[in-house]
Amino acid sequence: MNEPAARHAWVTHAAPAGLDATLDAADDLVAEARDVLDGNWTGAYTRPSQALYPHQWSWDSAFIAIGRSWYDAERARRELETLFEAQWRNGMVPSIAFDPAAPADAYFPGPDVWQSERSPDAPIGRPTSGITQPPIHARAALEVHRRAGPDERARSLDWLGRLYPRLSAQLRHLETARDASGSGLVAIVHPWESGLDDSPAWDRDFDRIVVPPGALPPYRRHDLDHAAAADRPTDADYERYLYLLTIARDARYSDAAVMAATPFLFAGPLFNAVLLWSELAAAQIAELLGEDPAPHRAAAGRIRGALARELWSPRRRRFGPWDLRRDEREPEDTVISFAPILDPGLAEPTVDAICRELESPSFHPRGQGPHFVVPTYDERAADFDPERYWRGPVWLNTNWLLWRGLRRHGRLHLAEEILASSLELVRRSGFREYFDPLDGSGHGSDRFSWSAALLIDMVMRQRATAGPRP
Ligand code: SER
Repeated sequence: MNEPAARHAWVTHAAPAGLDATLDAADDLVAEARDVLDGNWTGAYTRPSQALYPHQWSWDSAFIAIGRSWYDAERARRELETLFEAQWRNGMVPSIAFDPAAPADAYFPGPDVWQSERSPDAPIGRPTSGITQPPIHARAALEVHRRAGPDERARSLDWLGRLYPRLSAQLRHLETARDASGSGLVAIVHPWESGLDDSPAWDRDFDRIVVPPGALPPYRRHDLDHAAAADRPTDADYERYLYLLTIARDARYSDAAVMAATPFLFAGPLFNAVLLWSELAAAQIAELLGEDPAPHRAAAGRIRGALARELWSPRRRRFGPWDLRRDEREPEDTVISFAPILDPGLAEPTVDAICRELESPSFHPRGQGPHFVVPTYDERAADFDPERYWRGPVWLNTNWLLWRGLRRHGRLHLAEEILASSLELVRRSGFREYFDPLDGSGHGSDRFSWSAALLIDMVMRQRATAGPRP
């Protein structure tokens, strides 16, 4: 906590000149980030972290490939290839592809709990989880290809051509098998599918799920061996996660059967905005390959319409998740509300509303002491928790998504504040999994892969596009 006053001024009002100096001095951070990724590389993919997440996670690998694309195209391509080897026959990309080389008790719930082999769609002999995660992979694949040097362009295009049918199948599966409301929005059946497990976005629904006595065999949480209990989801939440897992497992992971049986069914703005962004990327991939981009553009248009129609609240002037079981729009103000900024076609007044909220005292309390942006939950909410997983801490992947969207819409000042905060958090606390927005301390895993990968992308992209400032 050195010089809090100066830090506050710097972090919240990152002057362009200050940011330039920070970027100039970021070479050591980029080198360390590469070291983190090398340390977590297994030879075929990158673990999110050594102890807490010792297998391959789906959207982690997409973020990691984007970061690696700046300096190691070979591994970036391999990362996505390895993940898609675990793709299900119905197109689903599982949230976790278990590493047969990892010890059986390395992670809980492991393959013996998920029992993916119960589904006829699961790959044979390749244990995975039975649910998915935000589909950011087409975007990642496009960015990996774009970064390929002239001498490897042909090889990269060949790689993209092999991946494209798999990416299309992933997107098509979600849009057909998971449109639970018939609105054009994709529904998730488990908070783990959101990527933001214990976000307050679904508390109202999640908290009322009662786990029947005897529904779960005795178990031990392994995550608490590697991270502080105060940083992780509560035991009550964990119990419900496992209960929802058993419901999906008992339905043999058939989408229709799971959607009929699960008490948790949500259509949210982050998952769907990522889907839209990937459809736009898939359209560009199709063009590169001489395929028809129109179906991807049409899908993006449908999702754009559904987000505006179903998830935008004209009264609150923001996006929010839709609890499809209770048919309620949830009012909690969380970071997922901002994700539609990823859509380059988002209407300007909606972009304005998102920026206003991002700059409001709930997410950017200027002048009230030091803080870092962007907290994952409204700092003024009674249950805001600056340390617990997705209930307040800053995460670099949500920062990165917002940073990309804000830049695309020309909201450069806010984008640069997010970038400055992200760099400063890593400089102070290392490549932690998440950070306390009030004091900048690091939490969860250390040497966390996507924090490293996305820092690389932020620094390199900002440098690549920085021009003389007016
Ligand atoms: N994020 C979950 C965990 O903490 C599972 O994907 O283990």
